Amino acid sequence: MKILIIGGNGTIGKKVSTFLSTKNKIITAGRNSGDLKIDLSDSDSIKNLFENNNDFDAVISIAGEAVWAPFKDLTEEDYYKGIKNKLMGQVNLVKIGRNYMNHGGSITLTTGILADNPVKMTTSAALVNGGIHSFVKAASLEMENNIRVNVVSPGLVEDSAVKYKDYFPGYEIVKMQNLAELYEKVINGEQNGQVFRIYS
Ligand SMILES: NC(=O)c1ccc[n+]([C@@H]2O[C@H](COP(=O)([O-])OP(=O)(O)OC[C@H]3O[C@@H](n4cnc5c(N)ncnc54)[C@H](OP(=O)(O)O)[C@@H]3O)[C@@H](O)[C@H]2O)c1
Repeated sequence: MKILIIGGNGTIGKKVSTFLSTKNKIITAGRNSGDLKIDLSDSDSIKNLFENNNDFDAVISIAGEAVWAPFKDLTEEDYYKGIKNKLMGQVNLVKIGRNYMNHGGSITLTTGILADNPVKMTTSAALVNGGIHSFVKAASLEMENNIRVNVVSPGLVEDSAVKYKDYFPGYEIVKMQNLAELYEKVINGEQNGQVFRIYS
């Protein structure tokens, strides 16, 4: 398969890219890293990537940011940052990318455990993740050309554990290998409109 991985050089993305590269042709993309340039928060940038590069069998997004701060400190603008970047970025990726995919292709987004089990300081990130879960369920009903759209929702991963474990006391850590295998399962499977949770 020819697979585009947005965020393919990030903490999770680089492990998924390496794992999938043994059986597939991988093209990575990011704002400042990867084979191709894309900024999910800018729909013109998404369109530009697909106008110049298409024929993908799968597109995986493992990118997107939201502001973490105490609820009392989060401004309206802070919420809009996550909405513009991680939420609308991935919505626009589906909206635009589906037109450039091969028949039967799959689009897989990434959210996170905060949608279901939030911790303090994550009202913005939780809102964005939950919104994407609902979006994917609804959008999958209207995909044409046999395109599938799904989302992977990971818990705190091994490679981020040192940095973030104090925010997630008692939470289980997700093994990078198990997470990479989940993306493989999603892009190769038949499921559509599913939220694949991996929290341990
Ligand atoms: N790490 C975890 O434990 C964990 C757990 C659950 C969910 N998640 C979610 O999984 C996603 C990836 O996490 P990560 O830890 O791998 O993050 P990361 O290390 O910061 O990597 C993110 C990657 O996405 C790219 N990126 C960020 N914003 C982008 C944008 N607007 N347009 C295009 N590319 C963009 C970055 O590259 P450039 O800087 O070059 O753009 C980078 O390669 C995030 O949405 C995160 O919330 C992570």
